[in-house]
Amino acid sequence: MKSNQSNIKKAKKYLDSNECIAVPTETVYGLAGNAYSDFSAKKIFKLKKRPSNNPLIVHYYNLKALEHDCIINEDFKKLYNKFSPGPITYVLKLKKNSKISKFVTNNKNTVAIRFPKHKLLRKLLKVLSYPLAAPSANISSKLSSVQPSDVKEEFGRKLKYILKGGRCSIGVESTIIKLTDTPSILRLGGLSVSKIKKIIKKQILIKNKSKNKISPGLFSLHYSPGIPLRMNVKKPNEGEAFVLIKKRKTNSKNYFFLSKNNNLIKAARNLYPLIRKIKNKGYKKIAVEKIPNIGIGQTINDRLERASKY
Ligand code: TXA
Ligand code: MG
Repeated sequence: MKSNQSNIKKAKKYLDSNECIAVPTETVYGLAGNAYSDFSAKKIFKLKKRPSNNPLIVHYYNLKALEHDCIINEDFKKLYNKFSPGPITYVLKLKKNSKISKFVTNNKNTVAIRFPKHKLLRKLLKVLSYPLAAPSANISSKLSSVQPSDVKEEFGRKLKYILKGGRCSIGVESTIIKLTDTPSILRLGGLSVSKIKKIIKKQILIKNKSKNKISPGLFSLHYSPGIPLRMNVKKPNEGEAFVLIKKRKTNSKNYFFLSKNNNLIKAARNLYPLIRKIKNKGYKKIAVEKIPNIGIGQTINDRLERASKY
């Protein structure tokens, strides 16, 4: 489409001059900047009010673009061939002569990398001469953005440009897997652990709740709606918004539905915007019914649990 072409040109112009912009991905919107530029990286942290010890994910177009920056291994190759581009982030060893800004990696010898699937973002990555560092496009510890209006709500006029790519098809962040030694899941996400297990066929540690904080972004206060949230609720209290997994007939105005018919994939897609909507309607408390803890339901429960630490 012609309009897409001119938007990509515009986005490239901002990025080439070290500005940050919002970009669509299939998981959530990202707040992107040139991953090779200290200046851009610092700007991302400032805009997001993100603690500087929390490293960023670097987004690549393909393997060729990645070759200079990280050391890949067999587990990576298997997963890459099956799931990338898509909602999976790999933590790999950084190459000594990598051009990635030390502000992006927080001076670590590892880096989190990902190949996003969103068509518009892929078109943009293809014309850039550097990968994009991009955390989720939200103020640190708040709910991620899954549509341009969310990004506006988060940053207002502080953000120069949003590359608009509609509503994110997955709606929760990527699954993060560390592949530098025994594979370990650092964050549950858009790709279920069972699918990953089928491909690497060996022990995978699940460290998303581990206390040793490999991923500083997994501090418990995260994905915060800004109002209290309770999980596994059978009956809501007076004044609470009640979130249900499946639509049901009711006259109660405070009932909200994640999907029509118990569909966990759709529920994940609707999770953040529904919570935003409830908050914007002025509710002061949220109650959520029990969500099946299978497949992407595990990711939904993980996010709800963190949101409930308010
Ligand atoms: O779906 C996604 O992954 C989105 C889109 C925009 O790509 N991005 C995203 O980024 O969720 P962010 O910054 O919100 O979360 C990145 C997580 C943080 O928890 C951070 O601590 C962790 O990745 N991380 C980054 N580099 C790491 C590293 N070298 N080792 C361990 N964890 C790392
Ligand atoms: Mg985030």
